[in-house]
Amino acid sequence: MKVLATLRYPGPAFDELGDVEVRALAELESPRPEIEALIVANEPVPLELLPGLRLVANFSVGYDRLGVEELAARGVAVTNTPGVLSAATADLTFALILAARRRVVEGDALVRRGEWGSRWTHGLVAEELTGSTLGIVGLGRIGQAVARRAQGFELRVLYTQRTRAETDLAEYRELDALLTDSDVVSIHTPLTSETNGLIDARRLALLRDGASLVNTARGEIVDEPALVTELVSGRLRAGLDVFAHEPHVPAELLSLPNVVLTPHLGSGTRQTREAMTRIVVGNVLAFERGEPLLTPVTL
Ligand code: 8YV
Repeated sequence: MKVLATLRYPGPAFDELGDVEVRALAELESPRPEIEALIVANEPVPLELLPGLRLVANFSVGYDRLGVEELAARGVAVTNTPGVLSAATADLTFALILAARRRVVEGDALVRRGEWGSRWTHGLVAEELTGSTLGIVGLGRIGQAVARRAQGFELRVLYTQRTRAETDLAEYRELDALLTDSDVVSIHTPLTSETNGLIDARRLALLRDGASLVNTARGEIVDEPALVTELVSGRLRAGLDVFAHEPHVPAELLSLPNVVLTPHLGSGTRQTREAMTRIVVGNVLAFERGEPLLTPVTL
């Protein structure tokens, strides 16, 4: 089976694929009907250039940018990488929660500017995290991993999602109530037509003064211009790993002290990325052998 991979995905499992063409989709100039399987990290699949495609093995749990409806309509199977990146993403979520709430990046900048005075009052006073309330938007695998970590910080944990879960990890709230009742709100829902723009200007205004918004899911879930306005006003704090038009980051954010910015690092540990490659490769090999896919995306 002819396989195209948009890059050499990390880890030794990639070599099990044998002869694979490694090429970015942007470099495809004319139709390549012989390619049957594509390994890609959640970017639009150009079906017009890949008319013989039968499998898309997505190196990502999120598949919002692939164009899954069209792929399904054309009978192309799709797989993703669920589960293996929950811990890494939950860890990064806490890095952003702590960094935003405890003013870690502001402190680092102050030290580097040589402005650390001799008196303790020169420190940056922050709001305590322990004992505060965390609101989780989307209690799927990653949201649950965040809720479990929150227990160690003695947080009161609220959650919201479309269907209420049977869980001891968090108390259910309607979204608006969760926003009003939380000190920190963290987003863990997939990007769908229902969640696009879910946290709009009206909902941002519900957040408490000084609350932190952390997003390691997808930038489009929050109205980005409205969030920029709130952050410029200084009313909120934020930790953002994702943006609406990556790798573009709104210029206004770059000089703000109340926002911590990371470049979509959620799954970015060696262990997690190698595990993602193992799943991707396992799916391609299973498809080639006519065996059930390990992690099919079902629409
Ligand atoms: C990135 C992610 O897709 O799995 C997801 O949904 O957002 C990340 O894992 C991955 O890093 C490739 O860009």
